[in-house]
Amino acid sequence: MAKKYLENADMATAISRVDGRAKVMGAAKYSAEVQLPELTYGVLVESTIGQGVITKLDTKKAEWAPGVIAVVSYLNTPGVPEYKLENQDVIQPQLRVFDDANIYFNGQPIAVVIADTFERAQYAASLVRVTYAKEKHLSNLEENLSRAVVPKSALKNPKAFTSDFVRGKANAYLDAEVQLTEDYIQPSEVHHPMELHSIIAKWDGPDKLTLVDKTQGSQQTAARIAKSFALPVENVKVLATYVGGAFGSALRVWPHEIVAILAAKKVQRPVKLVLHRNQMSYMVGYRPHTLQKVSLGASRDGKLVGITHESYGKTSMYEEFTENVLQMTRMMYDVPNIDTKYRIVPLNVSTPAPMRGPGEATGSFALECAMDELSYKLNMDPIALRLANYAEVDPDTKLPWSSNFLKDGYKLGAEKIGWDKRKAEPGTVQDGEWKVGYGMATGTFGAFRSAATVKATLKPDGSLLLQSAVADIGPGTATAMTKIAADSLGLPVDKIAFQLGNSSFPKAPMQGGSNTLATVGSATVAVCENLKVDLAKRAAKQKPGWTNAVPAKVIFKGNDLVNTDDTSSKINFAALLQHDGLSELVIEGSAAQGDEKTKYAFYSYSVHFIEAHVHELTGVVRIKNAVSVVDCGTVVSPKTARSQLMGGIVGGIGMALMEEAVIDDRTGRTVNASFGDYHVPVNADIPQMQMLFVNEADPHLNPMGSKGLGEVVIIGVAPAVVNAIYNATGKRIRTLPVTPDKLI
Ligand code: MOS
Repeated sequence: MAKKYLENADMATAISRVDGRAKVMGAAKYSAEVQLPELTYGVLVESTIGQGVITKLDTKKAEWAPGVIAVVSYLNTPGVPEYKLENQDVIQPQLRVFDDANIYFNGQPIAVVIADTFERAQYAASLVRVTYAKEKHLSNLEENLSRAVVPKSALKNPKAFTSDFVRGKANAYLDAEVQLTEDYIQPSEVHHPMELHSIIAKWDGPDKLTLVDKTQGSQQTAARIAKSFALPVENVKVLATYVGGAFGSALRVWPHEIVAILAAKKVQRPVKLVLHRNQMSYMVGYRPHTLQKVSLGASRDGKLVGITHESYGKTSMYEEFTENVLQMTRMMYDVPNIDTKYRIVPLNVSTPAPMRGPGEATGSFALECAMDELSYKLNMDPIALRLANYAEVDPDTKLPWSSNFLKDGYKLGAEKIGWDKRKAEPGTVQDGEWKVGYGMATGTFGAFRSAATVKATLKPDGSLLLQSAVADIGPGTATAMTKIAADSLGLPVDKIAFQLGNSSFPKAPMQGGSNTLATVGSATVAVCENLKVDLAKRAAKQKPGWTNAVPAKVIFKGNDLVNTDDTSSKINFAALLQHDGLSELVIEGSAAQGDEKTKYAFYSYSVHFIEAHVHELTGVVRIKNAVSVVDCGTVVSPKTARSQLMGGIVGGIGMALMEEAVIDDRTGRTVNASFGDYHVPVNADIPQMQMLFVNEADPHLNPMGSKGLGEVVIIGVAPAVVNAIYNATGKRIRTLPVTPDKLI
């Protein structure tokens, strides 16, 4: 049988990023680069205490500074209508921007200075003087575990993912022959996309608003803003043509966006507000600091008997943030007894946000490190332990997997990393001054699809324009959609343009939760089919060979449209449109989820292998080799998929070895809020990587056979690194990041 899986070399000839040239040539304009007539610039003033009340806000000096147009704060805000709604239950919990003098975290926006240039606004912002009645703040998760609460979603719904869960018997690990209980701690991590968050807000009269915004959902941002400002949704237009990374940080409306809209209202001119790099650490979410307690129980031969898993993550004082940390524990392995508990700890910090592999990246760190620890206790190979507990059906729902090629992933990854070189006894392989070890771990993330529509405009010259409201935060959405359309229609790739990131384009979900390809890809397939059906109907009026044409057999060839069942019927499609008096053909196609979720359990999988070298004297860790195999169904656009996987591995290595947003508990302020102090991997930290895809179709989720990719690629990377370090050194580090001080 022909090899189906894809490795690095197989991807070199695949379709290239269709917007790559515009991006590297600077032609792609991101929201902060957009210029408008009469544009003004907003700079935020932030609180410098963690909890309390502003007793005096003196903006006089700032107002008198050169170029300043206004200073807006709780003293003179035009107001957010949503905050005044009577039925407070229906209002989204959120930081109420400039609504009163209360302070909930250090760094909270308390005023905005609007000036004719960015520099003048920045200078004037430094002139605002604030006096506070300071109260005691709480910012440390581990010291405040006693304040943990059950999330509201769990109180409302016992079936919510945040609710306490038991399958079989609770604490069943206590009955097992081999037991293990450990705490795993992961610090807060910041998304830090290359592009800063930014927005331009422009009012046209009292009830029309245009936003040029960094967002993962143009229509979702429009809808939320419309609610906040009591506007009809069609009066709010959101443009997010290019987004330079987000990783979850742009899945919602943040306070700085509300500030820009209030400021633009106040000065009656468009306002541009760009966060600075430091503000990216605490104004647009982060992966929350989380402590997890995992207990595993197994029989001597490695069969899991029970898992108990608790998670404590932090949230803000004004809003509950929850994420699905425990799902992988409930479905990954065939275990009769599982109990999980999820709690959050409200602190004087800003609200966290989903960050790449939300929930599962955190959960897999604890679960997959614990599985590794168990493998040593059992004296069993870590892969063998996982295979011994492989779940043939979803243990959570008892539904069959829609597709599951995990076993292929283990096999392929082990082969590529050279797993046979691994020694079962830790600390026994030496390479000069370096200790050498191998580690592996698994990741999984649910595969989803929702509803979307794509609009197609076909011109007589054979050029095709496709449009969808979906945002593209970098994975290459337009590239994958172009490939899908090119394959379906037979049109050359350079004849197809895919436009996105505009709330007035047809309906699409946010780009989040790895659902874009499954969702918008299905709508792209649908619009191409509709186009072919429509063209075949038109052709049938002229040539009999078209009467029974099926869409699968209709294809563009050069300037012609061909019915491959009857090639004599080929017809020039410019003439075809002309015959019907059309200067262009406009058609829509829609797709939505069916009842597939009631029949199958949908997940993507990743298996990560790491070879780590640890320096004996300094504790420096060098990743020498990284091999990841992903089962995400059919790979539509191999080159951009490979980039996604590469980014996931790099992000996971950062999570394992470097990333930690540090709050000084004396002030409640993030102290390493810059790229100088918040460490992420650079090229020199990144080893040889092998990106592999199983590339087997999932027959149940969508016509492409694809599942999701963007999240699953990071899930499991950090534990694979930690496990490799243990194999190298015999030192088990359970608090991320694994910095050299923890290893010497
Ligand atoms: Mo993803 S964390 O839903 O951007």
